[in-house]
Parts: sequence; C-alpha cells; structure tokens
Amino acid sequence: MPHAAVHAHAPAAPLSALASGPLSGRVRPPGDKSVSHRALIFGLLAIGETKIEGLLEGEDVLRTAQACRQLGARIVRHADGSWSVWGAGLGSLLQPTETLDFGNAGTGSRLMMGVVAGHPIVARFDGDASLRKRPMKRILDPLALQGAQVLEQAEGGRLPLVLLGSSEPLPVEYKTPVASAQIKSAVLLCGLNSPGQTTVIEAEASRDHTEKMLAHFGARVESEAYGPHGRKITLEGRPELIARDVRVPADPSSAAFPLVAALIVEGSDIVIDGVMTNPLRSGLLTTLQEMGAEIALENRRVEGGEEVADVRARFSHLAGVDVPAARAPSMIDEYPVLAVAASFAKGETRMRGLSELRVKESDRLEAVAAGLKANGVDCEIVGDDLIVRGGRVAGGGMVETHLDHRIAMSFLVMGLAAEKKVTVDDETMIATSFPAFRGLMERLGARFS
Ligand code: S3P
Repeated sequence: MPHAAVHAHAPAAPLSALASGPLSGRVRPPGDKSVSHRALIFGLLAIGETKIEGLLEGEDVLRTAQACRQLGARIVRHADGSWSVWGAGLGSLLQPTETLDFGNAGTGSRLMMGVVAGHPIVARFDGDASLRKRPMKRILDPLALQGAQVLEQAEGGRLPLVLLGSSEPLPVEYKTPVASAQIKSAVLLCGLNSPGQTTVIEAEASRDHTEKMLAHFGARVESEAYGPHGRKITLEGRPELIARDVRVPADPSSAAFPLVAALIVEGSDIVIDGVMTNPLRSGLLTTLQEMGAEIALENRRVEGGEEVADVRARFSHLAGVDVPAARAPSMIDEYPVLAVAASFAKGETRMRGLSELRVKESDRLEAVAAGLKANGVDCEIVGDDLIVRGGRVAGGGMVETHLDHRIAMSFLVMGLAAEKKVTVDDETMIATSFPAFRGLMERLGARFS
C-alpha cells in the first residue's frame, strides 16, 4: 500500500490577545465536533442519502470526511453549507488504496479504527506529530478481542499502524479501562457488523452521541445504569442502517471560550446561541455556576435529538472551588479554559483526577501549568490534580501550544483580561476545531495582534 506522506502543517504563526473592553453581542459557535465526526461515519455506514446541517468544517472533521470517501462514501458540500453523504453501507466498505491520514484528529482516527475492524479490509492509519504520540493500544486491545489484527504499528501501539478487520466480528462484553467515549464508540462501531450482541460497560458515563446516533439510524441499542455513575450499553449487530438527516448543535467545547471570556472581562454581557446542553457534556457549566458565574440558559429546546439552549453570560466575580474527579468525563476538554477562569477567581481551585489530560492533543496538564506559570499564575500539579490560586493575572507570557488547539484558544482568552498581553506560539491548530474563532471573538470585542 502506498505510504502517503503526512501533510506538512502551515508554518507556526504566533498570536497575542490584548486586554479588551467589555464583550457584548450574540454569536453561534461552530457545530459540535463529536457529533460532526459521527454524522459522517454513520452516513458512510447507512444506505441512502444522509443530509447534515451545521457540520463543523474544521480540519479534524474534514479528515474524517476524506477517510469516509476513501472507504466508499460519496460526499458533497452544498452551496447553502449543508452536506450530503451517500453511504457505502454496513458490510460493504471499499478497501482503501491510500493511507487514512487523520491529521490531528484523535476522535476521527479512533472511531474509524472501530469501523475498519468490523470489515474484511486492510487500512493504514496515520496522523500528525501530535496524533502519532497518542496511545492507540486502548482502542486496539478491544478490537483485537473482536477479531481485528494489527499488522504493523509504531512502538507502544501508536500511529502509523495497519489494521486488518474481520468479516464477522465476535460478540463481546467489554469494560472500558478508562472513561472514554472514543473507546466505547470504536467497540460499538465494530460490533455493528457482528452477528451477535456487543456490550460495553463503563464505570463512569462518557458522552453518549454514538448511542444516540445508532438509535437515530435505526439500530437496536439499549443503555442502562451501571453502578453509581456508569452505563451498560448493548447493541444488536447487523442492523439495517437507514440514512437519516442530522442537525448538528453548537459545540459546548467551543462555546466554552467566549463563555469564559465574558465571565473574566469586566462589564461583559453576551449570548451564545444554540449550545448543546447534553448533561454528559455540561460539567463546565455546573462548575462555573458553583464558582459564582452569572450564566443563564435561555430558550431551552431540543434540536436534532440533543438538548440545546442560548447561553447568556455576564462578567462575574468568581471564587475558587473543588472540582470532583467524577465530573471529569463531562468536561474533559474544558479543563484548560477552566484553569484560565480559575486564574481570575478568588482563592484556590482544585481540579481532581486529570490523568486523561496527559494523553490529549498534548500533555494538557503540563501545558496548562506551564502556560499559567509563564503568565504569573500560582499553580501546581499534585498527583493527577491541578491546583490554581487565582486573583490577578499579570500576563506577559509566551505560551507553548504543542500542536494543541484548546491550549491556544484558552490562553488567548486569558490575554483578554490579563494586565499584559498573552501570546501563544502558534494559532494555526485552532483551525482543527474552530476555524472562525478569531473573527467570532473579535465580533464580541476581543482584541488580537
Ligand atoms: C470525544 C471523546 C473524548 C474527548 C474528545 C472527543 C468523542 O475523548 O476528549 O475531544 O467525540 O468521543 P476520550 O474518549 O479519549 O475521553
């Protein structure tokens, strides 16, 4: 199989955020990244036309679209910004002739490993320098139990790797070793083509978009409580997946940046429209409200099968809190920006149980602590906890982003309220999840240079 080169990334572009006046206005963040990846993948597996409205057109999702094409889907973007996917159909994927290159996208690559593992095809997976560092063994282990074989892999179960799927995945009952929607989803997506039942047990419930989309596309899937915080999900294999329309709600993980910016920039009052408020994604809202944030959820409704609301946020005098480890799965991507909020809060914030942050797009625990220190914030890592002692934020620092979009956006938010400007070493990765970040923030009154 040809080894397509990993696309070289645009040259690093530093960006600074400057102290800004009150933020005001109404904005809609881009479509949810998790739902967008899944909408394309289910479109690939269904028969017929899946129409997607509000798809996130970030680099991560475009990589997944490209991989879906390589596996046999026809995908078109319409002039009105909606997308259509004509699927190859479950059990009928094409053998890809080129490497599936996922760039920076952990979700796309891991979910697609599940899809490939359930089909008798061979695929080579690769990604950028960040994705090549991330652990894939957590995905490959259960997929091997289901019958897939890893033909090649980089040391420690990393990309690039070659996966041979099975024509008849075995029915399994799998307990995930860490709370991870990506592991759960990979196992379920592989199990779709199994003649029997696939069961995933998770001790801490993780985001449930895959389960919701399975049901939406016509699969029989059941989810029941397991222990105090967990879930047991059972899927009947070999359903007939029928193409359905998908409406993607605004991404709460992207909404988190204007939200925190409004809370820390004096005098701000903004509304963020159409934000998904799925309880398994809402840990940040809960935590900020405990810190004293003035946040109101207005016009609550259901859109495309998900709860959404317009989120009004006003400048608030925040106070430090203790964030329990059990809340981590519902706000796992929001800790960098929560740490920024905590830097402006009076007193100590302790964020517990953050070991999973070490295996994100960067080692986010170290990257956040280093960025806080570079800007004069008192913080320390104790075991898997991050402790931030907030108050005034001097700023003036240069932050290393390590190819991590959320580190870049979090520290740019910090710069809007710090005494001196905050600079990130590279803003290019922001395009993976939130290409319109700068323009949207500028419309609210944020200043960058
Ligand atoms: C995601 C799951 C989470 C999250 C990621 C998106 C998903 O990762 O961090 O940004 O869409 O399933 P883990 O499954 O590794 O926790």
